[in-house]
Amino acid sequence: MSQRKSAVILGAQWGDEGKGKIVDVLSEKFSVVARYAGGHNAGHTVIIGGKKFVLQLIPCGVLRPECKGVIGNGVVLDPMAFLSEVKKLRDAGLPIDGQLFVSNRAQVILPYHRMIELAAENAPGRTKIGTTSRGIGPAYEDKMHRSGLRVVDLLNSALLRTHIENACHEKNTIAAALFGTAPLDPKAMYEEYARAAEQVAPFVTDTAVMLNEALRSGEKVMFEGAQGALLDIDHGTYPFVTSSSSTAGGAVTGTGVGPTSIGTVIGVTKAYVTRVGEGPFPTEIHDDSATLLRARGQEYGAVTGRPRRCGWLDLPLLRYSNMINGTEWLVVTKMDVMDECVEIPVCTGYRINGKLTDTIPADMRGYESIQPVYTKLPGWNATTEGITEFDKLPKRAQEYLQFLERESGAKIGMVSTGPDRSQTMTLPEFDAELKA
Ligand code: IMP
Repeated sequence: MSQRKSAVILGAQWGDEGKGKIVDVLSEKFSVVARYAGGHNAGHTVIIGGKKFVLQLIPCGVLRPECKGVIGNGVVLDPMAFLSEVKKLRDAGLPIDGQLFVSNRAQVILPYHRMIELAAENAPGRTKIGTTSRGIGPAYEDKMHRSGLRVVDLLNSALLRTHIENACHEKNTIAAALFGTAPLDPKAMYEEYARAAEQVAPFVTDTAVMLNEALRSGEKVMFEGAQGALLDIDHGTYPFVTSSSSTAGGAVTGTGVGPTSIGTVIGVTKAYVTRVGEGPFPTEIHDDSATLLRARGQEYGAVTGRPRRCGWLDLPLLRYSNMINGTEWLVVTKMDVMDECVEIPVCTGYRINGKLTDTIPADMRGYESIQPVYTKLPGWNATTEGITEFDKLPKRAQEYLQFLERESGAKIGMVSTGPDRSQTMTLPEFDAELKA
């Protein structure tokens, strides 16, 4: 990262890799943290001094008073969710005013987005995605359809009123015709959102200008991904994906900086894999080991509380993720969750219709015939909790990490051995890069 002041940090698989804590730990080295995709479907849990913060929309960087937080144009902003998170942070005594900025070009989520999503998800004959029911997909649909409301429009009350009237008319008609849903009241909606707009206004600015100025003046900027690479609208396990560009490329379009501004890419992966919602998951575990990982790792969605599906580390998937993101560094989280595993299978390839491959099929139907090929590594059967030096890890835990690094093609920069900020190991080469 020397001479290169910015980094994208993102989840390597399907989200919930533990990015929140890592962004929080790393934000000490950065003066700005910018979110570039998704909305309040993300759930970033950070534990500081035993106190738990769950952030959905606001970048974790704001938990440090010297760090600015940016919600970029690629994000879909639910004003109510934003304001309730702002209140939570203010109530916790965090002075976020003057520290948090919202792009005037971000799209706004409105109640009819949620209405359409809920009705569509439950409609007979539709492919159920298992979304977070936050209206994310329909808000991005409107963006691409060029009929969305942007934050700059939210602040213009005449425009807001007309937009809500027209949109409600259209969405109410569609929802009634397709799903028999009761209509939403545009007048009440306008009043509620006009009030919210007044409270959102002080945070709004041209964040692209702000970020480019920060980079020009030598400040370090971190671009914080949401969800995970395999939930990306283009590169993920479509259609079981989210509706934004969660891969590293999204950091560019989602904030308004050029590709040459991106210094490095840091992928966060658990020592195993989890997924919430529907969709393919080749290494999903169907025996007691899943129960053990879920219980030890508290694998329940931070936003919806749904139990996460658990699986073994999938190297073809990780290599694919590293490729589409240009990942240089890996951060391995939840190492301690595997402390009791007697044996750890790691998927090193796929057998599809009898043929060995490590190419990820584009066609979802291809996933049904995947048989993961496993290499079994011995468990370390000792506690790694809170260990912050590589040499102090049990020998077999060291070997597990070395195997992962060798096979994935990216260097391990950090390892997390517990939920607290302090339970983090930074490896020397990465540490030197961060300090440069
Ligand atoms: P949506 O983003 O609410 O449209 O949901 C689409 C898919 O992405 C569903 O499978 C969700 O469970 C998943 N998803 C969305 N956000 C996250 C996240 O932050 N972590 C993990 N999964 C997510």
